[in-house]
Amino acid sequence: MSNSVYIHPSAEVNSRTKIGNGTKIWNQVQVREDARIGSDCILSKDVYIDTGVTIGDRCKIQNGVSVYNGVTLEDDVFIGPHATLTNDKIPRAFNKDWKVVPTLIKVGASIGANATIVCGVIIGEYAMVAAGSVVTKDVEPYSLVVGNPARHRCYVDKEGNKIEK
Ligand SMILES: CC(C)(COP(=O)(O)OP(=O)(O)OC[C@H]1O[C@@H](n2cnc3c(N)ncnc32)[C@H](O)[C@@H]1OP(=O)(O)O)[C@@H](O)C(=O)NCCC(=O)NCCS
Repeated sequence: MSNSVYIHPSAEVNSRTKIGNGTKIWNQVQVREDARIGSDCILSKDVYIDTGVTIGDRCKIQNGVSVYNGVTLEDDVFIGPHATLTNDKIPRAFNKDWKVVPTLIKVGASIGANATIVCGVIIGEYAMVAAGSVVTKDVEPYSLVVGNPARHRCYVDKEGNKIEK
């Protein structure tokens, strides 16, 4: 781990992690074994990064977000506060043989506060998921999706401005 990584004293970062230069890890964050986090990321208060998760460079993960095993974030991904990323499609407390269902969030995508991403989807590059949406299907690149279930509303540019099409 580089010296330029900031880890708040209350955070718990496993020694078997890789964390890139300039990344800041705030209060009560937990980063589990074999997680790989890129450079210049921000993990805000109460974030949980599960075993083996890969996160790209310059990602911003807001308060209270859990990124479970099977979820991959490419570079420049934003995850709003308390968004939920799942990894078990058909959960049962008593099913011991459940399989991780992967989810991929591509470069530049942005997930709004309190959104829920049902596992097994790809969220395309620079897509935007509105606050509180429930994503059940792949999201096209540059698409703004809204609601439960999340539906395409329009396309946006890299900054999130709507594009007339
Ligand atoms: C989706 C979003 C980008 C749309 O912004 P916008 O284009 O300025 O939207 P508007 O406020 O003009 O609303 C347009 C319509 O969409 C609805 N709408 C806006 N956001 C919505 C949402 N998250 N879920 C459902 N409907 C939404 C509005 O009620 C409005 O409906 P109407 O046409 O029936 O009146 C924005 O509302 C949003 O959810 N941003 C994410 C905020 C967030 O989570 N930030 C995280 C860091 S704090």
